[in-house]
Amino acid sequence: MLAAAVCAAVASAAVPVYLDDTRSLDERVDDALSRMTLEEKVAMLHAQSKFSSAGVPRLGIPEIWATDGPHGIRAEVLWDEWDQAGWTNDSCTAFPALTALAASWNPEMAHLYGVSIGEEARYRGKDILLGPGVNIYRTPLNGRNFEYMGEDPYLASVMVVPYVQGVQQNGVAACVKHYALNNHEINRHTTNVAVDDRTLYEIYLPAFKAAVQKGGAWSIMSSYNLFENTHVCHNRRLLDTILRDEWGFDGVVVSDWGGVHDTDEVIAAGMDMEFGSWTDGLSNGASNAYDNYYQARPYLERLRDGRASVDDLDRKVRRVLRLVFRTAMNRERPFGRFVSPEHSAAARTIGAEGIVLLRNEEGLLPLAEDKKVLVVGENAIKSMIVGGGSSSLKSKYEISPLEGLRARFGADNVSYARGYVGDTDGEYNGVTSGQNLADPRTAAELQAEAVDMAAKADYVVFIGGLNKAAGQDCEDSDRETLGLPYGQDELIEALAKANPRLVVVNISGNAVAMPWVKSVPAIVQAWHLGSESGNALADVLSGDVNPSGKLPFTFPARLADVGAHALGTYPGIKRADGDILDCSYDEGIFVGYRWADAKKTKPLFPFGHGLSYTTFAYGKATVEPGKDGNVAVVTVPVTNTGTRHGAEVVQLYISEKKPAVTRPVKELKGFSKVSIAPGETVNVSFPIDREALSYFDAEAHEWKATPGRFTAHIGASAGDLRAKADFDLK
Ligand code: GLC
Repeated sequence: MLAAAVCAAVASAAVPVYLDDTRSLDERVDDALSRMTLEEKVAMLHAQSKFSSAGVPRLGIPEIWATDGPHGIRAEVLWDEWDQAGWTNDSCTAFPALTALAASWNPEMAHLYGVSIGEEARYRGKDILLGPGVNIYRTPLNGRNFEYMGEDPYLASVMVVPYVQGVQQNGVAACVKHYALNNHEINRHTTNVAVDDRTLYEIYLPAFKAAVQKGGAWSIMSSYNLFENTHVCHNRRLLDTILRDEWGFDGVVVSDWGGVHDTDEVIAAGMDMEFGSWTDGLSNGASNAYDNYYQARPYLERLRDGRASVDDLDRKVRRVLRLVFRTAMNRERPFGRFVSPEHSAAARTIGAEGIVLLRNEEGLLPLAEDKKVLVVGENAIKSMIVGGGSSSLKSKYEISPLEGLRARFGADNVSYARGYVGDTDGEYNGVTSGQNLADPRTAAELQAEAVDMAAKADYVVFIGGLNKAAGQDCEDSDRETLGLPYGQDELIEALAKANPRLVVVNISGNAVAMPWVKSVPAIVQAWHLGSESGNALADVLSGDVNPSGKLPFTFPARLADVGAHALGTYPGIKRADGDILDCSYDEGIFVGYRWADAKKTKPLFPFGHGLSYTTFAYGKATVEPGKDGNVAVVTVPVTNTGTRHGAEVVQLYISEKKPAVTRPVKELKGFSKVSIAPGETVNVSFPIDREALSYFDAEAHEWKATPGRFTAHIGASAGDLRAKADFDLK
């Protein structure tokens, strides 16, 4: 009797027994909300330190911790500084940059990536991972393109979803950034972007929409720039109308650090957690800096004097509490894992799958065994993990290209010449690469040494490109030209004369000019590959891995072949009064290959381009009527006509014969990475639905597919279409 009475008493207790609380997430949120004071609610809506926001100790609600970045878990920083806390157990696995992930065109790699980096965030006790970034590649000069997934909204939309899911299965929120229209870095706090609705919906929003609707992202980071003359961090059209009303986003919007500039605007907009650096997010700190945030004490004052509504406050707090129950108070989440052999294997596999073989005349690659290889270039030895802005990392290790090649081909077979001196710095925010790259020799001496050694080698492998210094692949700065820095072009030409068996490995997160392209038989785009760089590169150069990467963005022959530059709208026009610049995306939907097709310009290397050590033949395309709501199904047989196993990314582009509106010549609407044995043929089928045929009708504010004839182009890149088939939308 007594036991029954006790159970009955407990069951009816006012305070729920959280341990076996079976109520829904939102019931738990409402319960917690009902117990919170005004001060506790406001405290949750802004930072309390560089990377954390307050919990409610009285109720046992923990604080929320965020961490950079998209490629690995940033070293611990001091409470209120960017500088390091000096921990000795926070050296992470540095995963490849997201351009490399996108270049794999393999959603399974995106999931492997998300799970791995999510485990590291979880282990380090972080609730929000500030990544991935999916801003569209509008100009090759953008300093942060290396953190993003290229120029095409469909590719980015497909690749971002598994990454988000992989991160979040660890009970860590992905924070997809930088929403939206942050497509270059200079003047990023003061650029007001103007773009027509059709372009906004067809090009710049899709990857974020997919992350929310298909990926189920728990958080989004609002960007620094302005849109329609309002800072995005309190832009109601982007944060409420589109993100929440149209897409149904139920998560939290986190501001970029210091991206909030006005209390009344931020209260009224769907911006939930104001992060930043000191008082107003940007300027130097004062005591109690975080209480001075726009959504901190000023908000509390407006609540107390009735100028702000508690309903609006509760809407924000509910979203933050939902994030808390999904992460910090999620009882089911795993413990995570840090710097494990599995993560190294993942970094290496993803890196090798992302490497793009751009050119391979006379089958110079893969390198034969037991030959004398001369490696030339600073990027063969320079750390690419330290620097570049907030994605900079303190990594457990970093295998350089030179180390990777020596490990694979034998140290005594691989010699090295510096070739040029570019950036000898190796420090960012107190993290140092530990390298001393100083070299007193002149450019002429360095080149003479490399050329002399080149003549005596069986192969010369030049490893150069960009680095993470300001003005290269680096946040808060853009490049000024398309060309390679530090006199690399002249050096490459000299090496090509000294030894025609030259391989150029370009390490960059951006397209670069290659005036020497015809005099270099083999060219490899190797991205920033993180801790396993040298091993991933050696895997491909040796042929242990057959390259299967494809470019996620166009390599233009010249800057003038890019809409943003042809029309001169980059980086924007400074207003006469104040510091705002207006940047109008006048090229509209014609970004990347869409522009090249419209202008009939021939890129250096087209979007989707990438070679293999084998060859693939495409047969005739056939069309069948669609079923299960599809309009048609297009099938193409692809045969491996070479002598070794390989994977091919078969791409589907759609064009409309007689469109009612101006449309791109063709648009990527499907792709499939198929692994094919020598001599084997695989039938690759693409179900085509109405969505794949649609354009965004800005007037009607809806997606439309007009009945008529369409063509499905199947190809190995945007510039290498192999088969096509027409079909009708009734
Ligand atoms: C930076 C970046 C953002 C990063 C944040 C925290 O300014 O724009 O991507 O996550 O601040 O470091």
